[in-house]
Amino acid sequence: MKTIADMELQDRKVLVRVDINVPIHNGIVGDETRIARAVPSINQIIEKGGHPVILSHLGRPKGKPVADLSLAQLVKPFEKHLGKNIQFCPNIDLIHGHSKNLFTKSATLLENVRFYPGETSNDPEFVTNLARWGDAYCNDAFSASHRNHASIVGLARALPCFAGNLLETEIENIDRILQSDVGPSTAIIGGAKISTKLKVLANLSKKVDCLLIGGAMANTILLAQGYEVGSSLVEKDHLQTALDFLKEAELNACKVCIPKDFQVAPHINHGTSTIKRIDTNLNGMGIFDLGPETIKTFENVIIKSKKVLWNGPLGAFEFPPFDNSTSKLGNLLANRTKSGDIISLIGGGDTIAALVKSNHLEAMSFVSTAGGAFIEYMEGKELPGINALET
Ligand code: 3PG
Repeated sequence: MKTIADMELQDRKVLVRVDINVPIHNGIVGDETRIARAVPSINQIIEKGGHPVILSHLGRPKGKPVADLSLAQLVKPFEKHLGKNIQFCPNIDLIHGHSKNLFTKSATLLENVRFYPGETSNDPEFVTNLARWGDAYCNDAFSASHRNHASIVGLARALPCFAGNLLETEIENIDRILQSDVGPSTAIIGGAKISTKLKVLANLSKKVDCLLIGGAMANTILLAQGYEVGSSLVEKDHLQTALDFLKEAELNACKVCIPKDFQVAPHINHGTSTIKRIDTNLNGMGIFDLGPETIKTFENVIIKSKKVLWNGPLGAFEFPPFDNSTSKLGNLLANRTKSGDIISLIGGGDTIAALVKSNHLEAMSFVSTAGGAFIEYMEGKELPGINALET
């Protein structure tokens, strides 16, 4: 893979694919880590005399404009981190005939690429249209490199391409930690994106000694095992996948810890909760966080581990008191990392946001901005965006 250092960029426009898919609630940007991490490559391109034309997705707008998912709302936070002015361009077709008024500031930010159906289908015509904006292409979005999309794969094939700083750093550090043979390893997997993760758990059980499962995925596994989970978030189409995963993990001698007790409430905004075991009646209740017995079990596993990989919060951390388990396990992991007892690798936007909230992020050995891509990479899969850069 070529990197920024290998490129002659003087007076060249560089399409830079970043991932500023950040949490936004009621118009307010939550955690800005992904924006801050996109800045070094943009600055380096500017220092080399190039003009960055920044591309990103935000959310999943399904090929049409959605006002709440416009990248216009990220211009100010981006300018704050970059320390330079950015010109926002609301329509990729503006490249036709108006180019004199474009590129007047230090960098240009194009509208959410997923507003166009050609992005997710990697449509050749859309790739050609996007490619008009640049003389070269830089992929700095490791966290979106598991997607076979136009701005990830199509552009790498259409223009001279190279890797950005963040992508390089993420791969180097994840490889270093995954390949280190330090002793028992554990993966903590939580979050709300169930279907994509359930499929990868079986493969992951080949790579680690123990899997601690929380979040909505645990609910689906419990339901597949015949437990009642009340009104909790589940994916009923994936019950068989859940059972297949448990069998596969057993074959791989991977210990799987599924929650036994929870904090439950009638709804997520309830403000208070009750502790219930899985074998009690959860009718009318939703599971929103782990209970004390499960937290203790998870803590004991972490204490015996030498390497811990974590993707996905274990409860609905944005709604206290359902941040309890994520915060407690974050605290333990941070302390054991600081004392040199554990190597910790954290991945995913929500996991980062949860650990920023509880002040535990800084202590971890390495924090990847990637969620889904991080898990696929851990599993040993080839990522199409990385392949396209290499070929
Ligand atoms: C992520 O948040 O994991 C990345 O931004 C990719 O988003 P996606 O799952 O919508 O492709």
